[in-house]
Amino acid sequence: MCGIVGYIGSRNCVPIILEGLRRLEYRGYDSAGIAVLRDGAFFIRKNAGKVADLANALGRENGTLTAEVGMGHTRWATHGEPNDVNAHPHWDQHQQVAIVHNGIVENYMAIKTKLLRDGHTFLGGTDTEVLAHLIGVMFEECGDLTAAVRGALREVDGTYGIVVISPKAPDKMVVARKGSPLLIGVGDGENYVASDASAIVAHTRKVVYLDDGEIAEITRHRVRTMTIDDVTVEKQVQQITLELTQIERGGFEHFMLKEIHEQPETILNAMRGRLMVDEGDVRLGGLQNTIGKLLSARRIVLTACGTSWHAALVGEYMLEQIARVPAEVEYASEFRYRDPIVNIDDVVLLISQSGETADTLSALREAKSKGATVLGIVNVVGSSIARESHGGVYVHAGPEIGVASTKAFTSQLTVLALLTILLARARGMTRERGVVLAKELATLPEKVAQVLQNTQVFRDIAEEFKHCHNALYLGRGANFPVALEGALKLKEISYIHAEGYPAAEMKHGPIALIDKNMPVVVIVPKDGIYEKVMSNIQEVRARRGRIIAVANEDDTDIDQLAEFVIRVPRTYGFFGPILNIIPLQLLAYYIAVARGTNVDQPRNLAKSVTVE
Ligand code: F6R
Repeated sequence: MCGIVGYIGSRNCVPIILEGLRRLEYRGYDSAGIAVLRDGAFFIRKNAGKVADLANALGRENGTLTAEVGMGHTRWATHGEPNDVNAHPHWDQHQQVAIVHNGIVENYMAIKTKLLRDGHTFLGGTDTEVLAHLIGVMFEECGDLTAAVRGALREVDGTYGIVVISPKAPDKMVVARKGSPLLIGVGDGENYVASDASAIVAHTRKVVYLDDGEIAEITRHRVRTMTIDDVTVEKQVQQITLELTQIERGGFEHFMLKEIHEQPETILNAMRGRLMVDEGDVRLGGLQNTIGKLLSARRIVLTACGTSWHAALVGEYMLEQIARVPAEVEYASEFRYRDPIVNIDDVVLLISQSGETADTLSALREAKSKGATVLGIVNVVGSSIARESHGGVYVHAGPEIGVASTKAFTSQLTVLALLTILLARARGMTRERGVVLAKELATLPEKVAQVLQNTQVFRDIAEEFKHCHNALYLGRGANFPVALEGALKLKEISYIHAEGYPAAEMKHGPIALIDKNMPVVVIVPKDGIYEKVMSNIQEVRARRGRIIAVANEDDTDIDQLAEFVIRVPRTYGFFGPILNIIPLQLLAYYIAVARGTNVDQPRNLAKSVTVE
């Protein structure tokens, strides 16, 4: 989603801002812009399209542009179409302030109506331009940029991460956060602001995370943080551990491919120091303070969006069938608005890669307000969901840059497997049984590495099916969510319409779609329902559907039925999804590459969806 980077110091900020924007590209966006202070005025350029287009435009127009204060933005359209006018930065009626904004001003129409009555004219259709005008009005009234921002934000309903600069206050940037992440990078005689640490990690590792409702006035040598009522807030400077190599492609053609191949290591990282194989047990430090609540929970409600929701569905199978804990899964976006029945003896488990997804964060707050214990399974350290939860477990997958989630998913599943073993042991599972499960879980990184060894089969399948318009994904039990996730990966990055279904459910409708052109991807491990899934495959064959099977290495029967067979090692049933999703990620990847789509930044998608 939208990205922000800003700089104040004594170096030329233009290359710093452009480089920061490039590092934010992974979040997904449709326009980009920059505003700097130069010779007592603004220099602003913005355009629909990519950061490279912006850099080219700057190079053509003013190759020697230098400035010491400035800010940049990548916009993912919410209000107003993605064109040059609606791109950020925006400015006010008299070009005294410029602003970049992540989030949504919900009451912008009411504010705009009033400003229109006062004679304001607007260039585009965004909520942000309205906020710029409002700050401009207050600035004219009080002459203090920080006070003007505070005053304007008092009138705003909605969410924001903003940076405001003005040629009339050339030695500061004013930034504010409510619902949209913002951090300040602390340098020596220079300071930065960004919506994401990756934009500034090349320059500083010292950061201050703004909390909701906080405003900061940033000069070259000082950061003053305050509330909207001007009460000073003392903030701690924290050290970020992010390495530059983690946010670079490292020889892979795409971030998504790099991240798929990182999975043996990221799955291992999710278990490291937590899985005690010899004791058949698990230790999760982040749950220390809430373990009592977890063990006495009446039920666990898992809630999330997208890929993380698919992880939640697998978690439901694991928790109910291994740990025998009642579990329910909810879309976070639905949970909030249906006045859910949640009690103090419920545990609500939020799953999120970014830790910033607006719907998931709202579900967290809803559950918390009703007295439930809320726990997070989160990747991004220090993110809002991590900070607002009563406890939780980091998945430690490292930065996920490809918009389509891959390694975060398998890490989420690994943490859910750990949680399941922990609860199962606490609820009476024997040590022997725990050891069997723990040993099997510990083998998964090696087994995932095996699946990743041969990618030729995926290239072959991609060549065969790259022109198809639809695809069906089938699985049963814990592999049904894997079918959903495989279908999601394909549609996200290749734009082929794909549906995931429980294999047996196919005959209740989707079977009507099957003809000689329909690829049907079936996950068919040798488990307790293998024969049933084989029957479902026969039903597809009888209608001349084209079978691509994800099957175990020792399964010879499948060769008779499937056009393509992708082999995965055997594992214990409920850990199967961690292995079985890998081929489906690769399949989506190679089909997208064969179709020539933008794999890492698919159209219309954003990495971290911070609006509802
Ligand atoms: C799919 C994908 C999205 C996210 C969803 C939730 O590849 O990336 O569906 O899974 O937007 O995001 P997080 O996990 O950050 O809450």
